[in-house]
Amino acid sequence: MPKAIDLAYVAYQVTDLDLMESFMHDFGLVTAQRRDDLLFLRGAGSAPFVHVSLLGAESRFLGGGLRMASRADLEELASMPGSSAVEEVKDWPGGGWRVRMIAPDGFVIDALWGQEEVVPLPHRRRYPVNWGDSKERVNVSLRPRREAGLVLRLGHFVLRVTSHAETLAWFKSRFGLLTSDVMCVPGDGSKIIGTFVRFDLGDKPVDHHCLLINEASEIGVHHCSFEMQDIDAVMGAHDHLVSRGHKLDVGVGRHLIGSQIFDYWRDPFGFRVEHYTDGDVADHSYKGLNYQVSAEDTTQWGTDPTPDFFH
Ligand SMILES: [Fe+2]
Repeated sequence: MPKAIDLAYVAYQVTDLDLMESFMHDFGLVTAQRRDDLLFLRGAGSAPFVHVSLLGAESRFLGGGLRMASRADLEELASMPGSSAVEEVKDWPGGGWRVRMIAPDGFVIDALWGQEEVVPLPHRRRYPVNWGDSKERVNVSLRPRREAGLVLRLGHFVLRVTSHAETLAWFKSRFGLLTSDVMCVPGDGSKIIGTFVRFDLGDKPVDHHCLLINEASEIGVHHCSFEMQDIDAVMGAHDHLVSRGHKLDVGVGRHLIGSQIFDYWRDPFGFRVEHYTDGDVADHSYKGLNYQVSAEDTTQWGTDPTPDFFH
């Protein structure tokens, strides 16, 4: 079975690239490449870009890209129904080869291999913390700043789909993903409405989820999410986004499933984007849980979700 090893990017079509670029700079992404009709944004990590915007007549989520373990994976994916041939990526940063697929509900999902990495951007290391029972910082003071900072990497995105079972099977059969935890309608636990999936890198820990597939009435993306190095980075960015007049969605808080400290914002087109830090990681041995929780239970502390968060 083909195996994905990381997320590569999320892709949107928007009506104004200047507006997206300006917001994303405040959010902590950096322009990797800008053209008349395309905007590639990167974080501080080694990915050449993690967010791409195409100029269009209406704003909508397009899909995303996943990095594959080998060229042979691309060949195998290309032989599956509805896949493109293996094609060289000639005009996007990092190049490489790709197979383009259409997932259920029309999401455009690219499998990517051979993309060239870039030199990471200088960024602040995580601050040492003086825990109650363990002190890491001696004779040194903290001086965090209210600033955009830099996101490190794309961590996950969340799809709202017509059929949870169909989309989950589609992604698992193409990317070798493992189930982390599932969410069920409270009751007997038989009606699954969401599955958190992660990459299978054997005994190497990976993020609790790279993708959440959620059955919902509104089809599209729920959010995409970028990792920051520590809570000071998340809070400094929060204050910076407030000072720049951007629209807070929900935050700051601590999720139940995945345990991340989260902060959700709306980009100028209404799409949710998340900063997170201190999320769970798991290796291939992690056996997931079946959560039967209400919307309010999904936040352990901090700001509860707005009513439309779960629509
Ligand atoms: Fe998230």
